[in-house]
Amino acid sequence: MAVERIGVVGCGLMGSGIAEVCAKAGYRVVVREVTGELLDAGMKRLTGSLDRAVAKGKLSAEDRDAAQARIVGTTDIGAFAECDLVIEAAVEKLELKRKIFAELDQVTPPQAILASNTSSLAITDMAAATKRPDRVLGLHFMQPVPVMPLLEMVRTVLTSEETFQTARAFGESLGKTIVVSKDNPGFIVNLLLIPYLLQAIAELEKGVATKEDFDTAIRLGLNHPMGPFTLLDFVGLDTTLFIADAVFDETKDPRFAAPPLLRRMVSAGWLGRKSGRGFYDYGK
Ligand code: CAA
Repeated sequence: MAVERIGVVGCGLMGSGIAEVCAKAGYRVVVREVTGELLDAGMKRLTGSLDRAVAKGKLSAEDRDAAQARIVGTTDIGAFAECDLVIEAAVEKLELKRKIFAELDQVTPPQAILASNTSSLAITDMAAATKRPDRVLGLHFMQPVPVMPLLEMVRTVLTSEETFQTARAFGESLGKTIVVSKDNPGFIVNLLLIPYLLQAIAELEKGVATKEDFDTAIRLGLNHPMGPFTLLDFVGLDTTLFIADAVFDETKDPRFAAPPLLRRMVSAGWLGRKSGRGFYDYGK
């Protein structure tokens, strides 16, 4: 099946990054937000990232202009009517996602593939909201989407071989390296990442070392680009808590039990870089 036009639901951090990598790979992209204000903010982020790629010597100014010209922003879900593949990157609420999938099922061509970028919700639950569950799968991008080379594909028991192979070829055409997971809580990356991050918080609460020393130890001792507390602030404490709770709810696996400190910080609005404060202070 030929994939030429891509739809992206949501133009937040992930949606704008997904729209950007698709446009850079030559696809025509429709990206939809719920309000004009959110769309403007998302398009601004997208433009900023393209400009950064030019400044870093990763993209020519002509290719940036061409990529930008391939992207259309909208607030109308009906604008996905001619898309071959739609990637949902809305907020992590299952009921909202099921509603979006039911709407996409109505407005997209019957052969279109519907994908979710969810980090922890069950793809099968979204597939079940459509009349084409064989054409639904997970395409989980990593943050920051334009920079991280991985794409996690999530295949449910209902995903057809044709859908899977078409989506794989699409992912590879974006320059991403593919890993494949069952529709299992946490998939691959978060299955290992979240217990590690939660344990770092628990050890900090115990006073084993300072957050700075944990970060330095992991950065210089293991050559990770970021230590756990810098990474927590980068991913977002609310996002981390959401994934932990979602996996814990389903599995009761104690490795996913969020430490009280994480929950209190999220309640306090200390969400990491995006709110200006997390484990570290980022000012305004
Ligand atoms: N477009 C294209 N390339 C860009 C770019 C852009 N907008 N911005 C930066 N780059 C490139 C740079 O040119 C540079 O490439 P080279 O190394 O080849 O020169 C590279 O990206 C790194 O950029 P910077 O040097 O500006 O930034 P940095 O060195 O501070 O790295 C970082 C920033 C990439 C975020 C790095 O710190 C990192 O990899 N951190 C870990 C991120 C991570 O773990 N992400 C996964 C989170 S988990 C997740 O996403 C799953 C989930 O469900 C929670």
